[in-house]
Amino acid sequence: MHFHTSYVRFPIPPLERITALITCSYLYKLQMVCLTPLPPCVVRQPRTGGQLEAVRRPAYLIGMADREKITLATLRGRKKSRTPISMLTAYDFPTAQIEQEAGIDCILVGDSAAQVVLGHGSTLQATMDYMIAISSAVRRGAPSVFLVGDMPYLSFHVNTEEAIRNAGRFMAEAGCDCVKIEGDHRIADTVRALTAATIPVMVHLGLRPQAVHQFGGYRAQGRDAASAQRLIDDARRMEDAGACALLLEAVPPEPAKIITESTELPVIGCGAGPHCDGQVVVLHDMLGLTAGPLPRFVKRYGEIRNRMTEAVRSYLTEVVERRYPGAEHCYQMEPGEAEKLRGSSRGQ
Ligand code: KIV
Repeated sequence: MHFHTSYVRFPIPPLERITALITCSYLYKLQMVCLTPLPPCVVRQPRTGGQLEAVRRPAYLIGMADREKITLATLRGRKKSRTPISMLTAYDFPTAQIEQEAGIDCILVGDSAAQVVLGHGSTLQATMDYMIAISSAVRRGAPSVFLVGDMPYLSFHVNTEEAIRNAGRFMAEAGCDCVKIEGDHRIADTVRALTAATIPVMVHLGLRPQAVHQFGGYRAQGRDAASAQRLIDDARRMEDAGACALLLEAVPPEPAKIITESTELPVIGCGAGPHCDGQVVVLHDMLGLTAGPLPRFVKRYGEIRNRMTEAVRSYLTEVVERRYPGAEHCYQMEPGEAEKLRGSSRGQ
């Protein structure tokens, strides 16, 4: 029989051994072990026989003790104190670890994964199961960040019951702190229903990639006074409906400033100028991993595609030239066994 905690798995000793273990000496040992400070990469876990043993922390817990959990309250505090909120997309465990270690506040597991990870032409191909799988991987890599799960196309459009069930999966299965949904005033009832179901909702306004076919392409929104005013009105409606935050994509700075200053909600900009409470971009775009043209608001902070190409070419060259693997990459046979093997294979 095995007992599970969130992080360790260990056999339960039979009943009589449990009784025997609850002795003064056991408690003394337990206390002694617990009082010894351990580095953050090490945790204690009980072993058969009741002894606590120091073991290596699961990779996804490293760094957790060092950083406070970012919550909605943190983001509201940032808005009040005018301290910018940093947000990036991530779609896998190691990248999430890197982002948390670098100090990023929020991670968006965007449906942009359908494009930048899966190679589709739009975000419409992201599915619920895929989004849940990658969101939970990101959460394991970054337990302290504020994690936003992006509700994919058709996951909240059919009816509110489906919306609640799907949004609930992001919270319960993937460990997200909130979900993001794309829409305008027409999704106010969905925002209200999710909020009533205790699911915090970030509403994505402006350029909504899931509506690319309605927009007739990826176009900046709110560029004339009338459409900018519609965006401002939609933002107010979303706040009234209970949204916990707003995301503005591809919107000029003027309406973005009005929205940011006229709402209590944290407003994250993605190509919406410098006045928003925070900024988000697609990781692959800012790292220089995406091939081809990028939206005008993207600034490249790396040339990772070139660096990866160089590394892959070096590997290829060394394999072809038999320079890899070297002696240091080979396993050694036990002493004397290679000679025996040579002797026996000569006799065959
Ligand atoms: O899916 C995504 O990555 C997004 C960002 C572009 C904001 O929605």
